[in-house]
Amino acid sequence: MSEAAETTATAENEDAQTNVKANDNDTRTGPVFSVRNLWKVFGPKADRVPGDPEHAALSQTELREKTGCTAAVRDVSFDVHKGEVFVVMGLSGSGKSTLVRCLTRLIEPTAGTLEFNGEDVISMGKDALRELRRHRASMVFQNFGLLPHRSVLDNVAYGLEIQGMAKAVRRERAAEMVAKVGLEGLGERRPGQLSGGQQQRVGLARALAVDPQVLLFDEPFSALDPLIRRDMQEEVIRLHREEGRTMIFITHDLSEALRLGDRIALMRDGEIVQLGTPEEIVANPADDYVRDFVRDVPREQVISVRRAMRPADAAEAATGTEITPETLVSDAIATVARTGEHCRVVEDGHVRGVVDHASLLTVVAGLDKDSAGEDGMEREVAAV
Ligand SMILES: Nc1ncnc2c1ncn2[C@@H]1O[C@H](COP(=O)(O)OP(=O)(O)OP(=O)(O)O)[C@@H](O)[C@H]1O
Ligand SMILES: [Mg+2]
Repeated sequence: MSEAAETTATAENEDAQTNVKANDNDTRTGPVFSVRNLWKVFGPKADRVPGDPEHAALSQTELREKTGCTAAVRDVSFDVHKGEVFVVMGLSGSGKSTLVRCLTRLIEPTAGTLEFNGEDVISMGKDALRELRRHRASMVFQNFGLLPHRSVLDNVAYGLEIQGMAKAVRRERAAEMVAKVGLEGLGERRPGQLSGGQQQRVGLARALAVDPQVLLFDEPFSALDPLIRRDMQEEVIRLHREEGRTMIFITHDLSEALRLGDRIALMRDGEIVQLGTPEEIVANPADDYVRDFVRDVPREQVISVRRAMRPADAAEAATGTEITPETLVSDAIATVARTGEHCRVVEDGHVRGVVDHASLLTVVAGLDKDSAGEDGMEREVAAV
């Protein structure tokens, strides 16, 4: 095996061990949630809006003036893959909470199809829905929803109690979850005796206790101060790495979205205006709304060298430090600064291109925005 191929193979092994993202594209298992042409319209005769092309073409304000209806979710389609953190982002009122509540029919969709592990959610009866919400898709709310007169342990065990689990077993499981979210020793306290961040951990432990396939978070950390918030984000990332649990996470905080999301759906007026990886969204905003959102993002910390590289000539292809196409521009800058020479971008044993001071600074300065992007740049130049 060539040196470069070995580097790639090692990186892949590490990926598989430390990062569940490796399982994301496992198409054999199919998506967890599959959503097609979903609508939620509030107001009189709401069900007439989705089927009517004239109404469907109106802006939010026009629709309200004409019909008195609000289309909180408008013709939205997406899949959530197993093991991914799927972030829903957008300004206040863009339809995030409505969309996520529709997924388990806490809000009844007006039109569209909705599947969970290939099962039709729209046709589920009461019992099947209850089972879905209690066992398979747990929601963590912003206001925690803790029961004030119960201890931490009993709050965490609550979901198991309504499942009918015996007391000793559920307390044991609750104690495990309390430890998992870093609250060991606080199990007998009441929620009022905890800080905001600790209360949010109890909410998280309660959702985890029922061992759901999917965790749904509706802006769970927006009430927390920035340091505790950061702490909780780390906690979510850790849990995700350790357990590979699928998560759907609403936020209107871009840095939170970029930190947590494998993919981000950006909503405006009930529609998804862009759906992509953080890098895709930052590198290629779909319109001015998205561009406005990502304006202040440090591009070098999100964009990889795959978008920064240029073709290598034969001499360059034979020299320079080897890096993978996924290397962040910020890390490549550090390497180029340290070594004083270009880096070779190597994938599957082949040099795909090189990055140097100029090509990396182009990304930092935002001058790469009009480039052909990944496809235009990706030219295999020389075999190693
Ligand atoms: N029960 C309701 N009846 C009528 N309109 C509603 C109802 N619930 C939500 N809406 C409207 O639907 C739109 C989307 O609301 P939603 O709560 O989903 O937004 P959001 O993106 O979660 O906002 P925020 O960031 O403020 O939580 C808003 O215009 C809201 O006023
Ligand atoms: Mg909301």
